Amino acid sequence: MPAAPLEISGLCAGYGPTRIIEDISFAVKAGGRLAVLGRNGMGKTTLLATLMGLTTRHGGRIGIGDEDITSRRTSARAERGIGYVPQTRDIFPSLTVEENLRTGLKERPPSALDEAYAMFPRLRERRGNYGKQLSGGEQQMLSMARTLLGKPSILLLDEPLEGLAPVICDELMALLTRLAAGGEVTIILVEQQIERALDFADSVMVMERGRISWTGAPDALRSDRALVDRLVGVGIH
Ligand SMILES: Nc1ncnc2c1ncn2[C@@H]1O[C@H](COP(=O)(O)OP(=O)(O)O)[C@@H](O)[C@H]1O
Ligand SMILES: [Mg+2]
Repeated sequence: MPAAPLEISGLCAGYGPTRIIEDISFAVKAGGRLAVLGRNGMGKTTLLATLMGLTTRHGGRIGIGDEDITSRRTSARAERGIGYVPQTRDIFPSLTVEENLRTGLKERPPSALDEAYAMFPRLRERRGNYGKQLSGGEQQMLSMARTLLGKPSILLLDEPLEGLAPVICDELMALLTRLAAGGEVTIILVEQQIERALDFADSVMVMERGRISWTGAPDALRSDRALVDRLVGVGIH
């Protein structure tokens, strides 16, 4: 599947009756790279989970191009090509690396596993190890590799760099940049490492208390520290 455009309008959602995100509207063109920034607790994870159909939606529309997927179930969204790598890195701890990867194959032949190993040589070395034996960085690679095996046309990444060593962060960001340059996937990246997120993205959205508080180009944020401090509060790092 080629990269797909995402169009969100008036999205309101939360957990049961509790509303967390309010009136969110944005669009990402096919092959686009959107960074979503914001302090902790502002609703970034809830937004991604809502795009995947994992929260209670109170209103609004989610579209892939002209196609309205608002009422589709999570499994149907995954089949339509939305790949989600949650903040919690949902790997199976008591399956091996290879068994974990097989769960991401969907209809594809086992030979496709080589793609994952080519992207993440470290996973090939650890193919017989259990998920729980992996380091945080390896678990993140496994979670991402499993999702990528499904060939998503839209990829949602929730703080993939959290807790990883800088050298692993460099590797993962280089991989994401290569994927994006291939034009086969649209990427929404939620990230607290602002500088890396700005280097990667072609547009930026900042969230505050469940709403969009700023949108613009990465350079506009990079060149204005006061703006970053006001919006994100942690400074560039
Ligand atoms: N499962 C849940 N049930 C109820 N409230 C939740 C749940 N998950 C998150 N929240 C609340 O939603 C708000 C936004 O959280 P979250 O989307 O995780 O923010 P972020 O990812 O920006 O840190 C927070 O106030 C958080 O306490
Ligand atoms: Mg979060």
